[in-house]
Amino acid sequence: MIHVNAISTAELVLGTAQFGLSYGLSKSATPVAADDIADILATAWEGGVRCLDTAAAYGDSERRIGALSRVERPFAIVTKTLPIGRDRIAAEDVAKVCARFAVSQRDLAAPKIDTLLVHNAGDLLADGGQALFDALGELVAQGRVARLGVSVYDPETLDRVLDRFPIGVVQLPLNVFDQRFAANGRLAELAANRIEVHARSVFLQGLLLRAADAVPAHLGHAAPALARFRARAQEAGLTPQAAALSFAANTPGVAKLVVGIDRIDALRANLPAFAAAKRSVLRADDLAVPDPSVVDPRQWKE
Ligand SMILES: NC(=O)c1ccc[n+]([C@@H]2O[C@H](COP(=O)([O-])OP(=O)(O)OC[C@H]3O[C@@H](n4cnc5c(N)ncnc54)[C@H](OP(=O)(O)O)[C@@H]3O)[C@@H](O)[C@H]2O)c1
Repeated sequence: MIHVNAISTAELVLGTAQFGLSYGLSKSATPVAADDIADILATAWEGGVRCLDTAAAYGDSERRIGALSRVERPFAIVTKTLPIGRDRIAAEDVAKVCARFAVSQRDLAAPKIDTLLVHNAGDLLADGGQALFDALGELVAQGRVARLGVSVYDPETLDRVLDRFPIGVVQLPLNVFDQRFAANGRLAELAANRIEVHARSVFLQGLLLRAADAVPAHLGHAAPALARFRARAQEAGLTPQAAALSFAANTPGVAKLVVGIDRIDALRANLPAFAAAKRSVLRADDLAVPDPSVVDPRQWKE
């Protein structure tokens, strides 16, 4: 059973992988155009969004954000470390991560980054991970980063990180199909321990917003679950956008919802949907899909 708050205090964060990469379920051939990014950032700011999620690994997303947003619209920035992905993190890997962080800071035109997440949690868990964490701690000591955290895909990896590292922020996938992290009040417990939870993949890369007959063939087995979700949203008087946002916004412990935007009209729909979502309750505990080939986009095979 998922317990819900009457009124959520969660905030919306703009996900910007789409600004620098051809990304997501529909994988448009090119990233979002520069003029469209300007419109998206202006509309997001006017709509009360105050934080952007980006990463060194998102093509030139950081540079495009830095070129546009810093003066008039001082968004708080969440960015991520260069992923290393080796069994052993050597001193030169740590140096590479730090050098790449300096590039992120320059590109974002941000003397202080609000949150730096380790993009590949395995880099912390590998041999030499402590040296990496210590080097990131130096960035905090130098006043260049306010908080450190980690991005994860599964609860087991998060447990292993929490056992070893005093992080302040975690970004994780959470949506009506993928409720693994919400089990047993786990996110509320993190929040009680002052670890800020950022939920991503709230729309499961857009899959949750597809009509059952618009699901790509390789995800055809998700169609019955999608039909159930749509019916539940309709029963609650919510659009699919608001229903998906409501689930994440009302999961106890979630502070921020990272929503990926690649079109201004999607943002214009999502801002009022988010306001409705915070006031609404969606019964969703029976909508979880325990099939990794549906809930883990890394396993989607076209
Ligand atoms: N490891 C990590 O740290 C990691 C991994 C993944 C993502 N992220 C972050 O999370 C952000 C969000 O990515 P996500 O994968 O989690 O995506 P998401 O927010 O679950 O879904 C975003 C996609 O949903 C669709 N969409 C959004 N609003 C819509 C609307 N109103 N109507 C119709 N479609 C709409 C769009 O896809 P279509 O255009 O295809 O319809 C959009 O690209 C990324 O930008 C990134 O910042 C981080």
